[in-house]
Amino acid sequence: MSGAPSEPSGVARWDFLKAYISDWHTVGAVAPTSRAVARKMASLGGVHYARNIAEFGPGTGAITHELLAALPADGRMWAFEVYGPFVEHLRKTVHDARFTLLERSAADLGEIRRAEVPTGFDAVISSIPFSLIGPEGTREVVRAVAQNLRPGGMFVALQYHPTFLRPYLLEEFEQVRRNPYLWNIPPTLLLTGRGVRRPT
Ligand SMILES: C[S@@+](CC[C@H](N)C(=O)[O-])C[C@H]1O[C@@H](n2cnc3c(N)ncnc32)[C@H](O)[C@@H]1O
Repeated sequence: MSGAPSEPSGVARWDFLKAYISDWHTVGAVAPTSRAVARKMASLGGVHYARNIAEFGPGTGAITHELLAALPADGRMWAFEVYGPFVEHLRKTVHDARFTLLERSAADLGEIRRAEVPTGFDAVISSIPFSLIGPEGTREVVRAVAQNLRPGGMFVALQYHPTFLRPYLLEEFEQVRRNPYLWNIPPTLLLTGRGVRRPT
């Protein structure tokens, strides 16, 4: 099982800032997410009752640790990360039998679902910077989530951009909610999507 979750250490904060300076377009934020926001994401995603979840963009693990703290003992979690130094960091720091780290894009969610989670994911928790990924990449990832959640499953996405993601969620989900989280620097928007739209 994972160790006690904590606020990101000075080392994690410094690694994060260096990563942003070297590849801001992929990393998308200057500092790791706070513990309070990460806990809110776990609760919005119903992670306490989940069996199979996915995380997009674990970075240095700020949200990952809170998800693992919430996930039941028989749950499983797959994390998709594309930035090599963060993958290395996670390999060294997350030791939990329930956790599988993939050096792959979030867009590959369907391949993992077909191989490992035939019933679909209970929740997908994302902090990837959709507004920097752009319209085409965003549509691809949001569609992959909608196609690979179980019925009633929940998508939770952290965004700093106030308006970019919502239209893409509305294309795929019946219920889309905005949960502003103002007690964070910078203020954060947590969007949720549930109830996949079926073609009419
Ligand atoms: C804003 S950071 C969030 C990091 C961490 N989860 C946190 O909240 O502190 C965004 C993360 O998404 C990752 N990322 C960007 N595009 C991605 C993609 N297509 N698939 C998976 N991860 C991606 C970046 O490498 C980075 O780790």
